[in-house]
Amino acid sequence: MTPIPIIVDCDPGIDDTIALLTAFVSPELDILGITPVCGNQPLERTVRNALQVCELGRRTEIPVYAGCFRPMFREPIYGQFHGQTGLGNTVLPDPVKAVEKKSAVDFLIDTLIAAAALRKRITICCLGPMTNVAVALRMSPQIAEGIERIVMMGGAYREPGNRTMTAEFNVLADPHAAHVVFSSGIPIVALALDATHQVMLKPEHVAQFSSVSGRISETLAKLMAFWDRNDVRRYGSRGGPLHDPLVIAYLLAPHLFKTERARVFVEHESELCMGQTVADWYGKSGLEPNADIVIRVDAEGVIAFFLERLSRYAEKAVA
Ligand code: BDR
Ligand code: CA
Repeated sequence: MTPIPIIVDCDPGIDDTIALLTAFVSPELDILGITPVCGNQPLERTVRNALQVCELGRRTEIPVYAGCFRPMFREPIYGQFHGQTGLGNTVLPDPVKAVEKKSAVDFLIDTLIAAAALRKRITICCLGPMTNVAVALRMSPQIAEGIERIVMMGGAYREPGNRTMTAEFNVLADPHAAHVVFSSGIPIVALALDATHQVMLKPEHVAQFSSVSGRISETLAKLMAFWDRNDVRRYGSRGGPLHDPLVIAYLLAPHLFKTERARVFVEHESELCMGQTVADWYGKSGLEPNADIVIRVDAEGVIAFFLERLSRYAEKAVA
């Protein structure tokens, strides 16, 4: 089978890191590039973290392109649950690998236009604020022709927000970018909090993961343990929601997810509801749906999927 060509747009980030580490050991995916953006941490840090994670995963051949250092219009906000460096209390060696000279936006434009010319399409995985993709779309709208679909983590529909009462972090961090992307007509699969809150990474899972993941087990255990929100009232159990890795699981094991199509609107003007994602479940707007929103996840299946993938770090080929 020909691998699926993807670009991973991200802001590592603990859960971004788990997503990347999973993608790295998945031969069904051809990772053309990683494009860190200002998000959980300032750009300089998300780039550094991406380089370090490539080294940890021994995938240093994957190019990393630095993205936008600020959101489109708003002031930056940063993540709250990723520690001072964005990688919890994990200390990774200084990266030897260097960031590419080309910017992420230029990389997106050049790669997607070249793909379109060859009648090929690339999947964009968005694990952070969507500034890079939105700016690329604003500069060269024809890149849409080279995009198969955008599989994004962000938003909150029937769930309340996680950064404000109404907004999820990735959308709130750049609501104008999310508005541009959802207005683009590009097929979108949306993994919002409605989906990610169904998959809690509990302390017992952390022990399981660290027992199977070979040479990355110590780092993975630290990252995962740091992710525990310890908020039983909110989530119904200890642990933390496995947000960004679900994008990779969706690509590789779509049978574990159920979606519903709807038109999505992004609030980018109101102070109270800034960054809210609103789904038109019952066709009130009269507009065509623009997204497949994940409404149900087989949580046990997804955990088993990640255990199998990350156990590949214990195998000789990647050890
Ligand atoms: C999203 O916010 C970030 O902090 C995580 O990395 C994830 O992408 C969840 O709201
Ligand atoms: Ca993220």
